[in-house]
Amino acid sequence: MKRQMHLNLFIHSRGHHEASWRHPAASSLALSDVRYYQALAQRAEAGLFDAIFLADQLALGDDVAHGPRTALEPLTLLAALAVSTSRIGLIATASTTYTEPFNLARQFASLDHISRGRIGWNIVTSWLASAARNYGGVSQVSHAERYARAEEFMTVVKGLWDSWAADAELDDRVAGRYADPSRIRPLNHEGAHYRVAGPLNLPRCPQGRPVLVQAGSSDTGRDFAARHAEAMFTAHLEKETAQAFYADLKKRVADAARDPEQALVLPGLSPLIASSAAEGTGRRSDVDVFDASYLHLFVWDGRANAIAGAYRLGLVDEILARHGPRGLYTHSLFDYGTGLLEALEPGHRARPLVPCAPSISAASPRSCCSGAGSAASSSARRATRSCSAPSASAAATRGPRGG
Ligand SMILES: Cc1cc2nc3c(=O)[nH]c(=O)nc-3n(C[C@H](O)[C@H](O)[C@H](O)COP(=O)(O)O)c2cc1C
Repeated sequence: MKRQMHLNLFIHSRGHHEASWRHPAASSLALSDVRYYQALAQRAEAGLFDAIFLADQLALGDDVAHGPRTALEPLTLLAALAVSTSRIGLIATASTTYTEPFNLARQFASLDHISRGRIGWNIVTSWLASAARNYGGVSQVSHAERYARAEEFMTVVKGLWDSWAADAELDDRVAGRYADPSRIRPLNHEGAHYRVAGPLNLPRCPQGRPVLVQAGSSDTGRDFAARHAEAMFTAHLEKETAQAFYADLKKRVADAARDPEQALVLPGLSPLIASSAAEGTGRRSDVDVFDASYLHLFVWDGRANAIAGAYRLGLVDEILARHGPRGLYTHSLFDYGTGLLEALEPGHRARPLVPCAPSISAASPRSCCSGAGSAASSSARRATRSCSAPSASAAATRGPRGG
């Protein structure tokens, strides 16, 4: 049987590269302007992409001074994109840690109705400590606790989406019967984290429930994905680790008594697209110039120091071996690098590695980097690649139903 490649556009800021928002050819629209997202979604739809994807964090990044860390709230934005497009799948991120299952089940069911069956949910448990502080907590909920909640959350939302049979809504104006209560059942869920009576106050949505997407990377996260996800995001740097990840996930899906063909892996790519090799080379030099500004961005929030430190200490391979090159959102390299430097070099955070702020039109961006900066340069380039969570994900999968 022929396999089909499916494409999913990961809309992230004005591009995935740390400095792409500054590129002269970048959109002039603000990141809070819905037309920016509408134009991208419409172009992706015209280009026959299966879906677009919106990531989400629940706190403002601490490097907003130099990087666009703002975005419209994804579920709100998805409603706008649903009425600006007609065929493409629409996937948004929402957290099981910082929302209530009834709210989220209702919002996704509404979006599925609004889009006529094109919605997907990227299920995250949210790893930012700063997010916890926005929701009444002081520190991050532990990884194990987040996934325990997520598991119960899934039981509740699936129960709510199933609380209306497809034929429960009658809308029989002659007989005066709007719905058949025998086809609507309460949930009466009482668990360790949630008590939800149900049913949902909305008829069953076109897909029955959103397409479930996940990006677990730890053992717990992969098992969670294997139980629930129909598509799995991942961002590997090396073919071997990507293949190992793929094989491992498929095995876990089979172990969870699901058909591995129904749980598809969406590897991330950050392509440089050009119409000729010469143009591609030109774009490549643009990216090289960006490397310099990327460095500048990271110098002041300490992460370049952290990564450079991990390189200096020769620990990068160990970090990657332990955690795998999992991309921006796993932040293991950042965390490990930061932790190591905090332990080994107290006060490293404020020390700039690159003493100047190269502009993106600088002819030779690296010429302004000091010796320490060039260590950071290779680190940051590597980080740039590892940070390249997919702008376009290609995989043998289908988009959200109906998409
Ligand atoms: C492509 C991709 C997109 C992701 N998007 C988000 C996101 O928008 N919000 C978020 O909190 N986490 C996001 N994550 C992080 C994952 O949900 C997950 O927490 C991470 O991969 C670590 O795995 P673990 O949860 O098993 O430890 C993303 C990960 C990947 C690979």
